[in-house]
Amino acid sequence: MRLLAALLLLWVGLAHAEPTSLGPNYDVKADVAETCAACHGLRYLDLAQGYDTPAEWSHLIASMVKLPPERDRAISQYLAENYRHKPEKAPVLVQGDTDITIEEWVTPTLGQRTRDPVESPDGAIWWTGMWASLVGRLDPNTGAMQEYQLPSSARPHSIVPDAEGFIWYTGNSNGTIGRLNPADGSIKEFPTRARDPHTAVFHPNGNLYFTSQHSNMLGRLNPKTGELKEIETRKKPYGIKVGKSGDLFIAYNGTNAIGRMHPDTLLVRYYDIPDTATRIRRLDIDSDQNVWFVNSSLGKVGKLEVDTGTVTQWNSPSGPTSHPYSMTVINDIVWYNESGMRPDALVRFDPVTEQFQSWAVPSGIGIIRHTWETQDGDLLIHQSSSNRVGRVRIAD
Ligand code: HEC
Repeated sequence: MRLLAALLLLWVGLAHAEPTSLGPNYDVKADVAETCAACHGLRYLDLAQGYDTPAEWSHLIASMVKLPPERDRAISQYLAENYRHKPEKAPVLVQGDTDITIEEWVTPTLGQRTRDPVESPDGAIWWTGMWASLVGRLDPNTGAMQEYQLPSSARPHSIVPDAEGFIWYTGNSNGTIGRLNPADGSIKEFPTRARDPHTAVFHPNGNLYFTSQHSNMLGRLNPKTGELKEIETRKKPYGIKVGKSGDLFIAYNGTNAIGRMHPDTLLVRYYDIPDTATRIRRLDIDSDQNVWFVNSSLGKVGKLEVDTGTVTQWNSPSGPTSHPYSMTVINDIVWYNESGMRPDALVRFDPVTEQFQSWAVPSGIGIIRHTWETQDGDLLIHQSSSNRVGRVRIAD
């Protein structure tokens, strides 16, 4: 009997010594620290919803880095034991009458931080892979994808197409606005005074306007002449959109304000949004010229009536920590996401009925950081953690 127990112990010991091919000195914790922190801090492990099974961890890791099977097994096992599922991250999903379908595509280069999809005039979907300093083109009809390498120091935060099909990017790490010519892959760079161009938008007057978050600056580039004008502004200008009157509206992620900039003089008028803890990442404008915005820090969606400065806010379904992030208004319906939840929730808000409806993004990871309305009234989304671009077809 004692012999049997000893054999059993030996067997358990051997089973635990696996995976043998990694050798006796293999330290899984050190491997995680080295491999995963190559791109981001280990705090990202807490950001995720956590998984109880190695298979789910392995699935997530596969969108970021390709590991040999033994290390993938060891790391996934370790994470499943130490970073377990956090049910409290689940969004509050609200039922409703609107039907949508969401398609997602996985972009080729792993761990690129796929983000900010846009549609070019020919109907292609473009995205930027910020950490790999590339932009990519997806033909949504065939699923074919092509990636274009940009200067490695550019690390574009956002892209925007022009009417001729050139793709303009904000060189967030090398202080440039850049233009990619998809026909031959050539690039033209326009150096900025701001060190970190962030989000850009084309104006009907042909100029490109952009924010620079950490430089606290706003800029205007004339793409034809290369003339560039930049001004200082309040803290952390983030999203930017053109209003019906031609003024530009700016979201501030470092103070509780929305800015309104004149396209010619670049003079900015500020609207203070209640509560000094308010931080606004993105906004959009409806057909009545109301500015809709996400109150990211307080978990709300809000409306600013620009003539009176009146602000109305509604609590997002998943509450104060839901961190609403992207924002696009389509046919006067407000679409945004709850990036603090896992899975990331896509939310529809109807200003007339004041009703919410929400869905989990099917790939189930996160994060949507910027959205775009296509010519067909679809919504382009993405997942920056798991390298996906997506298209939401809206039935109403
Ligand atoms: C080549 C780069 C790269 C490597 C290597 C990498 N990641 Fe990531 N990871 C990313 C990117 C990009 C994101 C999204 C960052 C963002 O949007 O801010 C991310 C996000 C995450 C998240 C957050 C997921 C969520 O819910 O949003 C987790 C967890 C994570 N990574 C785990 C890992 C682990 C574990 C490893 C090591 C085995 C690893 N990563 C290695 C690129 C990488």
